[in-house]
Amino acid sequence: MAIERTFAIIKPDAVASRFSGQIIQAIEDSGLQIIGLKRARLTPGICKGFYHEHVSKGFYAELEAFMTEGPVILMCLSGDDAIKKWRDLMGATNPANAQNGSLRKKFGTSIGRNATHGSDSPTSAAFEVSYFFDSSELN
Ligand code: RTP
Ligand code: MG
Repeated sequence: MAIERTFAIIKPDAVASRFSGQIIQAIEDSGLQIIGLKRARLTPGICKGFYHEHVSKGFYAELEAFMTEGPVILMCLSGDDAIKKWRDLMGATNPANAQNGSLRKKFGTSIGRNATHGSDSPTSAAFEVSYFFDSSELN
């Protein structure tokens, strides 16, 4: 397996509910390394650029309102098979369908308010990491 980088967000619902520590602990327990981390408040413009593939979809307005409602924690993760490993840790998009023990099952409350984000491919990971981090911020 190759060492990959992926991009992760602890979404506003999980930050507000003080689940950030448990989510970061789960990442560390999985063996993935956090090589970049910052707290930010997304603006509508930043959110549109980030979720560009979803802007035309019916759920986008709800997604933008949610993602801008409070601070988020942005991370770059590194490790063997990091993209799939982080997606597996998060679980399915809809917490109702997520595997027991997954982060979205534990901390998500609905398909819209689902606690975490993870890149879904090497192409999206490269775009998303560089959208929020300069190379000097990854160590
Ligand atoms: P993410 O990008 O946040 O990691 O989630 P994902 O790949 O599992 O799901 P994706 O299809 O990329 O959707 C992005 C986010 O949009 C919200 N969503 N709401 N109300 C709805 O039907 C709906 N569908 C998607 C979710 O917050 C999802 O994580
Ligand atoms: Mg996605």
